[in-house]
Amino acid sequence: MIQYSKIRFTKKEITSVSNTLRKGWISEGKKTSDFEKLFALKLGVKKNSTIAVSSCTAALELILKSLCLKKKDEVLMPSLTFVADANSVINAGGKPVFVDINSKYDLNIDVRDLEKKINKNTKAVIIVHYAGFPCDIKKILSLKKKYKFFLIEDSCHALFSRLNDKKLGSFGDASVFSFYSNKNMTTAEGGMIYSKDVNTFKKLKKMKNHGITKSLMERHNKLPGYDVILSGNNYRFDDIRASIGLIQLRDLEKKNKIRKRIAKRYISLIEKHKLNIILPFKKFIKDQVSHHLFVIILKNNINRNKVFKNLIKQKIFLSYHYTPLHDLKFYRKNYRLKKLDKIKDKLISLPIHPYLKFEEQKKIILSLKKILNN
Ligand SMILES: Cc1ncc(COP(=O)(O)O)c(C=O)c1O
Repeated sequence: MIQYSKIRFTKKEITSVSNTLRKGWISEGKKTSDFEKLFALKLGVKKNSTIAVSSCTAALELILKSLCLKKKDEVLMPSLTFVADANSVINAGGKPVFVDINSKYDLNIDVRDLEKKINKNTKAVIIVHYAGFPCDIKKILSLKKKYKFFLIEDSCHALFSRLNDKKLGSFGDASVFSFYSNKNMTTAEGGMIYSKDVNTFKKLKKMKNHGITKSLMERHNKLPGYDVILSGNNYRFDDIRASIGLIQLRDLEKKNKIRKRIAKRYISLIEKHKLNIILPFKKFIKDQVSHHLFVIILKNNINRNKVFKNLIKQKIFLSYHYTPLHDLKFYRKNYRLKKLDKIKDKLISLPIHPYLKFEEQKKIILSLKKILNN
């Protein structure tokens, strides 16, 4: 069987968690703070600018709620992303607006379509570095300067991709990361916020803990009592997950190098066997990127479900990312995104994880060839 994704933990994670359990402080405490600091260091940002939270969705909601959106306020985002981006805007009281892709070779947000959709109600823009490849940051930053919107980088796929020696997720006003189990590093559930502005950072830190002035850690073995200065929620992280995260974070670069090797092997197998597909993002293969997904696009005449079913018979499990947001029942309106609509049913994500063997990759590509090149 070839699974779509696979996780393995080593003795290092198990020892780290055991030590925390033995110490007896399991909720948010020193380990979480160590994790936030190490994350900031790896991201290449200031020490007091990262906040660990219970998920990336929680991170998105906190940031969007901190913007105090009104009903008519719009947040622009790619349609080709996970639904958490749109749901968080709704939960924060705003309106999501969906943007097209660049092209079938670059599935990231189309900056021209983005600019066309900016208007006086635009409060924020969420960009997603799809599969871990950089959006057109230069143009997006120049639009930000021109139209003054709040820029959020959804960097869930981009742990840690670089653009000109700067990590993705360090360009915007804020960025969000996920440590869900299928991500390049995991803590089971969990997320991280990066906030460039110090005051927003302080506000978000309070908001994730009910708006309370002092965390339990800050009150521990001291005078009890606190006040609440704004409305918040419980979006806290915990020291058990931080114990896993600290190890995963240290091993991330090594695992990303393996992903790079796997991506290169896919490309050479695809070329060698003349697989009849479109290969997006090929231009980034030399760059230091996370290779969170390995996406191919089927040609027009091929039915994606038939491909999935055929491969399942051979116990090969693929996936796809995503059903575009403008096609989901809850969000379906009169949207037409010309470029995305052409390829949305043709996207396939091939298995990519650090434990994928060359033999398995060969089997995937040869099985695909049999179906596609006939
Ligand atoms: C692009 C993107 N945004 C947001 C999320 C939400 O992350 P979480 O599951 O940590 O809430 C995910 C997770 O799958 C994602 O891939």
